Amino acid sequence: MGLRLADSPLARAFERVQREVDVTFDALLPIPDDARARLVEAMRYAAIGGGKRVRPLLLVATADIYGVAREPAVRAACAIEAIHAYSLIHDDLPCMDDDDMRHGKATVHRAFDEATAVLAGDSLHALAFEILSMPEISGDSFIRAELVQTLAAASGASGMAGGQMMDIVAGERQFDLHTVTRLQQLKTGALLGAAVEMGAILGRCPEEGRAHLRAYSRDIGLAYQIADDLLDYDGDEGKAGKSLRKDTHRGKATFVSLMGADKARHQAQALAEQAVGHLAGHGEEADILRALARFIVERDR
Ligand code: IPE
Ligand code: IPE
Ligand code: MG
Ligand code: MG
Ligand code: MG
Repeated sequence: MGLRLADSPLARAFERVQREVDVTFDALLPIPDDARARLVEAMRYAAIGGGKRVRPLLLVATADIYGVAREPAVRAACAIEAIHAYSLIHDDLPCMDDDDMRHGKATVHRAFDEATAVLAGDSLHALAFEILSMPEISGDSFIRAELVQTLAAASGASGMAGGQMMDIVAGERQFDLHTVTRLQQLKTGALLGAAVEMGAILGRCPEEGRAHLRAYSRDIGLAYQIADDLLDYDGDEGKAGKSLRKDTHRGKATFVSLMGADKARHQAQALAEQAVGHLAGHGEEADILRALARFIVERDR
């Protein structure tokens, strides 16, 4: 899907997971033959095609390290992507960022209507947890419960939604670097961290063996949002597929506004290298995670 990565193991891994996630969402979201059709069409519009699928790739690449079968990993990846897709639908609403373009096409509330967009977000949120509680994920109900708990914690007030709240407040008062870091860790870092954690859970990696993965996630989570802020600052709208220059317009404190673009870019690169360092105990089975950390800060979309 034109990530403009030269043909590489990372590019092939992206293409594969993008295809698998689309096929799985297609199967999970048949259009009902009644008045709910518009709702499911909006869910499909948001969930199929479009995104880079960074969270799914983080999940399956981590699961791969532990030899997890492909189908449960892809299903869990769809659960996290359903949360991500819902968060973007709501993020774009007029009461939030009021955006007209996402993934190079009209945002859901523009293509459909606001009420349908709210409900499509609600339903993708619910779908995520439905997927994780299905037996196809694991025959072990403890694993299913741990996945549900991890994704729920990363999605709510202690995770993505909490970060979104802080982001709104950031437009009202000037946050310092420490508070912006906290905001970004919740808004973006929590879900990226959950993707890695869920891969490890599926792989039955015990909690005490996950410290290096959590350290990796913390660094890429921050680097990811710095890259998003840099894109907003000087990226190309055509490539990004969304409207940019909004943070400056709204006077929002971001890494770029607080540190300047050059320092922010250096910081993101340093974080990516630090993230790679946390994987030193792994061999080539972690190469995709290493390549992903570097891709995250070099991306132009
Ligand atoms: C955009 O996320 C919003 C953030 C949390 C930074 P992505 O850049 O991962 O969006 P898609 O899914 O690839 O469009
Ligand atoms: C959105 O952050 C993060 C979410 C949790 C959805 P942004 O508002 O910066 O994302 P873009 O720039 O619209 O993709
Ligand atoms: Mg926003
Ligand atoms: Mg936004
Ligand atoms: Mg942004």
